[in-house]
Parts: sequence; C-alpha cells; structure tokens
Amino acid sequence: MERIRTSRLHIHGFFLLVVQATGLAAAAGAATSRCPAQQGMALLRLKRSFHRQPLLLPSWRAGTDCCLWEGVSCDDAASGGGRVTALDLGGHGLHSPGGLDGGALLQLTSLRRLNLAGNDFGGAALPASGLERLAELTHLNLSNAGFASQIPIGVGSLRELVSLDLSSTEQTSAMPLELKEPSFRAVMANLTKLRELRLDGVDMSSAAGDWCDVLAESTHGLQVLTLQSCKLSGAICSSFSRLRSLAAVDLSFNQGFYDTSGELFALSGEIPELFAELSSLAVLNLSNNGFNGSFPQGVFQLERLRVLDVSSNSNLSGSLPEFPATSLEVLDLSETKFSGQISSSIGNLKHLRILDISGSNGRFSGALPDSISDLSSLSFLDLSSSGFQLGELPASIGRMQSLSTLRLRECAISGEIPSSVGNLTRLSELDLSQNNLTGPININSKGAFLNLEILNLCCNSLSGLTVIVDDEHYYNISSSAPLPQINSLGLACCNMTKIPAILRYVVVNDLDLSCNQLDGPIPDWIWANQNDNIDVFKFNLSRNRFTNMELPLANARVYYLDLSFNNLQGHLPIPQSPQFLDYSNNRFSSVPEDLMARLSSSFFLNLANNSLHGGIPPIICNASSLKLLDLSYNHFSGRVPPCLLDGHLTILKLRHNEFEGTLPDDIKGGCVSQTIDLNGNQMEGKLPRSLTNCSDLEIFDVGNNNFVDSFPSWTGELPKLRVLVLRSNRFFGAVGGIPVENGDRNRTQFSSLQIIDLASNNFSGSLQLLWFDNLKSMMVTREGDVPQALENNLSGKFYRDTVVVTYKGATTTFSRVLVAFTVIDFSDNAFTGDIPESIGRLASLRGLNLSRNAFTGAIPSQLSGLTQLESLDLSSNQLDGEIPEALVSLTSIAWLNLSYNHLEGAIPQGGQFQTFGSSSFQGNAALCGKPLSVRCNGSNAGSPSLEHRESSEDRTETIVLYAAVGSGFGWGFAMAILFQVFCRS
Ligand SMILES: *[C@@H]1O[C@H](CO)[C@@H](O)[C@H](O)[C@H]1NC(C)=O
Ligand SMILES: *[C@@H]1O[C@H](CO)[C@@H](O)[C@H](O)[C@H]1NC(C)=O
Repeated sequence: MERIRTSRLHIHGFFLLVVQATGLAAAAGAATSRCPAQQGMALLRLKRSFHRQPLLLPSWRAGTDCCLWEGVSCDDAASGGGRVTALDLGGHGLHSPGGLDGGALLQLTSLRRLNLAGNDFGGAALPASGLERLAELTHLNLSNAGFASQIPIGVGSLRELVSLDLSSTEQTSAMPLELKEPSFRAVMANLTKLRELRLDGVDMSSAAGDWCDVLAESTHGLQVLTLQSCKLSGAICSSFSRLRSLAAVDLSFNQGFYDTSGELFALSGEIPELFAELSSLAVLNLSNNGFNGSFPQGVFQLERLRVLDVSSNSNLSGSLPEFPATSLEVLDLSETKFSGQISSSIGNLKHLRILDISGSNGRFSGALPDSISDLSSLSFLDLSSSGFQLGELPASIGRMQSLSTLRLRECAISGEIPSSVGNLTRLSELDLSQNNLTGPININSKGAFLNLEILNLCCNSLSGLTVIVDDEHYYNISSSAPLPQINSLGLACCNMTKIPAILRYVVVNDLDLSCNQLDGPIPDWIWANQNDNIDVFKFNLSRNRFTNMELPLANARVYYLDLSFNNLQGHLPIPQSPQFLDYSNNRFSSVPEDLMARLSSSFFLNLANNSLHGGIPPIICNASSLKLLDLSYNHFSGRVPPCLLDGHLTILKLRHNEFEGTLPDDIKGGCVSQTIDLNGNQMEGKLPRSLTNCSDLEIFDVGNNNFVDSFPSWTGELPKLRVLVLRSNRFFGAVGGIPVENGDRNRTQFSSLQIIDLASNNFSGSLQLLWFDNLKSMMVTREGDVPQALENNLSGKFYRDTVVVTYKGATTTFSRVLVAFTVIDFSDNAFTGDIPESIGRLASLRGLNLSRNAFTGAIPSQLSGLTQLESLDLSSNQLDGEIPEALVSLTSIAWLNLSYNHLEGAIPQGGQFQTFGSSSFQGNAALCGKPLSVRCNGSNAGSPSLEHRESSEDRTETIVLYAAVGSGFGWGFAMAILFQVFCRS
C-alpha cells in the first residue's frame, strides 16, 4: 500500500509540472463578456441536478452574468460573443446521484475545457450519446468522479482533445469505467492530438492484445501516459518507440487476477530498449508487473529522468551502471532480481531523494561506497535483504542530513552504531534489525533517537547485541513538556535483561520487547507513566520471564497485547475494549468478572495453558467480533454456551478443561467454524446433527470425552473436513454405512480428510472396501508441497492449532495441520473381518494403526502401495498367514508392530525390515527368522538383534506442516504455518 502511495506521488509531482507547462490560464476577458441566455440557463439546470447543499455554487444566480460565475470562463465578447468556454468544477464536492445531466451540459457546445474531477456522480455511466456535440473540447477531466461502466464512443469524437483524464485512482465505486464495446481502438482512433492520456483504474482487459499498437498508431504527440491498474497484459510493442515525446509513463500495477475467471493477467516480456531513446522521459513507472529479462541500461543515462520505479517485478534482472550526473530523484528497484554492486558514481546523483534496493534476495554484494554520503538530498534509503555485507557502518553516514528513513535490515552490519547517526536530525525511521550489531546501543544519550517514530533493532542477538544502556540523568523529568512519542520501537530478541528506562519518558504506540530475558514485574512505568490515560496500539512482551503486572490495566486502552510465554500469575489484566489478547502459556489463575463483557470488540483471545477456572458466562455471546477463542489447558468448567458453536467464531478451542453437558442441537447455517476442539473434557450425549451446517469445518476434535453415539457418518458431508478425532469416547457400531446411493458416484465423502482417529471406542463390524475409496486426499502424494509462512500484518504472529495422534507408538502433538500428513488410527475397538485391501490405495498415508481389534485374515499385500508409510501398527489382532514379501518395498517405514497375531512363516528380510527389533514380531507363535531367535526350517536365524524400544524414548522431530487457513479472520488473518512436532512417550 505504501508503495502505491509513493508512486502516485511521483506522478502527481510530475503532473503539476505538466499542468504548468500546458497552462490552465483561464480566459481573462470574462469580465467584459455577456453570457448568452441559453448557456446561462443550461448552467442553472446543471446546478439543479446536483444534490442541494447550503453553499452549492452561490454565485450561480439567475439574472447575473454567468461569465462571472465560479468556475465558469467565457471567451472574449469582441471575438464572437461571450460563449462559455471553460467549466472548472474540479473538487467542488458536488454530488449527483443520478449521474451527469447530459441535457444541460451538452448545450455548452463552445466548451474547450471541462473539469468535473473529484466530485461524486454516484457510479453512473457517462452520457451514452451526445458528447460529440462538445466538438471544441481540448481538455476533459472526469477523473475520480465516481463514473462507471463503458466509456461511450462520443469521447472518441472529440478530435481536438489534448488532455483526457478518466482515471480513478481512489476506487470509489466497485464498478470501474471500462473499455470493451466500443473498444479502446475505436475510442482512440481519432484522438490524434492527445498529449496527455490518463486512464488509471479503467478496465482495459479487452485491449490486452493491442493497447500498445493503438497508442502508437493514433497518439504520436503523447507526452503523459498513465495506465495504472488497467488490467493490461502482454508485452510492450516495438512500435511504442513512435511515441517520441513521452515524458511520463506509468504502467504500474498491471498484475493480478481477473475477478471472476481467476485468470492471471500481467504486463510481461522484456522492458524494451526503446525507453532509452525517449530523450524527454522524466518519469518511468513500470512497478508491480510481470516484466522479465534484463533491464535496459541505457535508461540510466537519460538526462531528464527523475523517477525510475521498476519495483516488484520479481523476474526482472539488471545491474546498476556507472551513474552520470542526471536528474534522478527516485530510484526504486526493490523486489526485483537486480544484482551486482553499487558504484561509487552513485555520488553523482545529487538530486536523489529515494533509493530502494530492498528485497532483491541477496543478489547484491560488496560494501556501500563512501560516496553515498554525498547524497545530500537522500531522504529514503532501503537496502534491506539485498545481500549487502555492510560490515561496520561508516561514520560518514552522519553526513546524509536529509535522511528520514534508513532501513538496513539483514545487511550483515556488525559492530556498534556510529554515534554520528545522532547527527541525522531528520531521521524518523531506523531499521537495523537482523544484523550482527553489538552493543552497547545508547538510545537516549543526547536524545539522538528521540525524534524517531520507528526504531527496529530486533534480532541482533546472534553476536550479542546487549542492553540498551540507559542514561537516566539525561531527561529533565520535571519538564512539563509533552512526552516525546515513538510510534514503533522494536527491540525483540536483543538479549536484554533490563527494560530500557527510556520507556519512562517516551510514549510508544507499538512496542516489541518479545524474546528477551526480562524478568520480575512488568513495571507500571513501561506505559511511560501515562497513568490514567494509557492509549497504545500494540505491546508485545511475550517470551520473557515476567512474573506479574504492576498495573491492572482496567482503565487503559491497549488494542493488542501479547503477554504469552511468561511466568505471569494472578489476575488476568484486561484493558478496555481490547482487540487482540494473547495471554497463553503463563500461570494466570483468575479471571476478572467482567472479562467477557469487555470483549465487545475483540477478535482474538488466547488464554491457553494457564491455571484459570470458572464457567464461560453467556455474555460472551455479545462478543460478536470474536474470531478466535482458545481456553485450552485450563480448568474451565460448566456448560459450553451454544452461541460459541453457532456464531462467528472461526477457531474454538476448549481442549483439556472440565466442561460438561451436551452440545446444543440447533446450530444454524451461520456457523463459520474452521476448528472445533473439545478434546479432553467431560462432555456427553450425542454429536448434534446440526453441525453439518458448519460447512467450513476443517478440524473437529471431540476425543477424550464421554460422547455416546453411533459413527457420525454425516461428518463426511463437510467438504473441508481435514481432521476428525473421536478417540476415547463411547462411540459404537459400524463405521462407514455410506453406500453409494442410487449410483450417485459423484457424491464424495470425507474427500478432504487427512487424519481420522477413532481409537478406543466400541466400534465394531467389518470395514467396507468402498469406504476407503472416499478418502481422496489420502490418495494424492504431494511431493512439491512447500511450507509457507504468510505473515499476518496485524500481529506478526501465527496461531497454532494442534492435533494429538498416536504415531510411531507414541502420542504426538502436531501443531497446525498439515497437507502432507495423513494418519488413520482405528486402534482399540472391536472391528472384525479382513483389513480392506483398498487401504493400499491411500498413497499419502504416513501412519496406519489398526491394533487391538479382532481383524482376521491375512495382511493384504496391497499395503505395499503405501509408499509414504512411516508407522504401521497391526498388533493384537487375529491376523494369520505370512507377512507379505511385498512389504519390504516400504522404504519409508520406520516403526512397525505386528506382534500378537497368528502370523506364520518367515519374516521378510531386507529393506527397512532389517532395522526392526524382535518386539515388532513377538507373540506370533509360528513366525520365524530374523530378528526372532526361531530359525526357519533349520536355517540359521542368528542371534536376536537389539530391540528398538522406540516407544519408550523421547523423540523430537521436525515435520514440515503446511496449512492455508481461509480468510475467516476479520483482519485478513490468513495464516500458513510450519511447526515442530513433539513426540512424547
Ligand atoms: C473517426 O474518423 C473516421 C473517419 O472520419 C470516422 O469514420 C469515425 O466514425 C470516427 N470515429 C469516431 C469515434 O468518431
Ligand atoms: C556530527 O555533528 C558534530 C557536531 O555538529 C560534528 O562535530 C561531527 O563532525 C558530525 N559528524 C559527522 C559524521 O558528520
């Protein structure tokens, strides 16, 4: 967003120049002219079409000379009779819900200039016909005026037009202007005199193939062209070079998805050399597109070039030249593939104000030339994550007196911050995070950093950036002047053992002290002694060792407070109307009575892993913004208010508490839950059928309760259900029972399922062959799954969803699920009959546990199709026959238990089989061969190998888990997370 703003500024600045050049000098002779009656009446009619408001065009009164009216100009009476030639009502706050009164306007046939920009015509279309009557128009500006739909052909008849501006950069209406029928070509064909064309925001997707040729054919004199966000695609054509007069070109933000079809569009291909031949070029903005290839070096030589922005073209490569002394003011190459070094000739760019090379993924190298300090106009410098190994910052940096933003994140900076940085009196943002700075950093000495609005020193701990040294004597505490403000102070992971005392004297809106070694109480002065008047946006104090909170916060306004992973005890501090509270993983023991009443505007409340108790009062139903409620691992009790299942919550986690009672059975269509986790409570009764209304449900975990019900086959109709855990309840009867009805083979069940855990219930009967054919998502293997971590801008923090399954014989907690991880656990039930061979088609299965049932028959050799299988437990059944030789091909298998069956014959040898101990096979009287000590037919079985007793060992392993949670969170809370897996015995 920020980038959009800056690029607009560039163009805007340029526009002012152009305006001066072409001149808006209105006809000066208006005073002596007399307004033709008919034109005056037309103007008054136009006035009547606007929404009436007190100061609407007060000078426009019947009976007065219209040539003297506000915004109206006439030509000289002597030269033909005082006709209205210009109407400039730009930015007058006019509102006309019915659109433009064409009947009135089109009588002003002598108009040469018409400006209605920045008013509100209510999403109406332009007059479909009649515009051609304004045949003398040279300047037409209808930008940002709320017009929508097709641009009429009449615009194309205005042959005298020099300047046409139909842009809408403010997205006022959902429906933009568009050029479809008639096409861009048809409208442009006769506009040969155009010098300025602005169509930003106009949907030109229909002109994908020929927009460039059309311009080259009809508008040779074009000086200013802005087609930002026009849904253009394709390459820049070679005939574009005919537009030799171009001074400003903005083709930015032509990359995205079509709304309905989902089709991708982008300006792409190489950026042609021809730009280097446009000697008048002053502004070139090609940012946020799909250009590739190598950027033409010649462009850097253009003497008049002031703005060059090719940022966010992720496949565009190039290198920086020897810079001649040009007029360049803005150079933005961020988020591209540019590489190489910065030559010391950069010092020639005396006018450079903005230099942004960030995010080129480490392709730059070398150090920063000293001459960069000569750039006395430079106010914005961002080299973050560009690969520079800056080493120690030179003291000369203090010479860049104009710097207001300095971002050097991840630039391998070492040593101390030179004190000359204190000379940068205009600096408002300093980001030195993720470097190897060593302290001490004295952020208050001489007040050097006190003009900063944003300071980020996060994550310099690797080489030991130590404490922020405080200089408490510096401040004149008695001063009655208002406290200085720092907007954002990032001191995460800085090895701090002491809270910087500067916080006594500085109001910080966004403070990050997470991941340090701070302990003891959170002092009240951390809120800068604002006492009664605390009003801050975001405080992150997580991952320290704080023990208590001095200030109860009951009267404070803190919108985002993260206290997770500390040792905080006692009463939960709840500020007024918080939006985001994470108090998880502490030792809080009591909940203030009015907690729920204070949550009216909250969307995130995580109290997991504390020692809290009590019930959830029904008033929580009033917290209508709440998206996430996590009370897991506490001692909450009583009934679960029905509204929690039937409302707006995206994630409901009540795991491991003492909740009891039944679930409500009147859940309506509004249920938006993605996660319902009630595992480990004392809930009873049946699972309500009405949960089928929760069609977004992905994780449904009711394990370890007292539910008594038959298999909830209706959960198979939840299209997104990925995890179903019914473990350790009193479910009974057959599983499946979803016959393919009336031959409806398209009806899929459980098609997204990845984890199904039915263990330790009373399920019985035999498993149906066809049922497993439903489990489509277990059949695809996803080799190429890349874990992604989409950062949530609001919180910079992820939410972890956990699922506990038995895996490799151990109870394993998986945090946030899982595209590549699939498990079936049917153990400890009363299943009978054969193991369905159709299980062998579930190619992505990682864990299969059918142990402690009454399965009979042989192990199906089809299980050899489970190429990803890591854990297989068939122990304690009635299986007989030989172990299929084919299982030797399971190369991933790391844990196997076939013990206590009636298997017979020789244990297959080779592959992973030679890694298993005898415990994997014991209790099968007729098995023989390694690793058992029983020999087969007299052959030599050798001595028993060492047993692998993996289940008794603690294991920690990392498995890549992938998830893309829907956009259920109000604040664009889309997350994808990779996490650690903790295995416990
Ligand atoms: C452009 O000019 C041609 C030839 O005079 C004419 O046929 C056509 O209708 C004109 N187009 C528009 C949009 O006025
Ligand atoms: C910083 O300012 C001080 C005092 O004005 C001056 O003596 C010093 O040379 C400056 N340092 C740099 C690097 O410009």
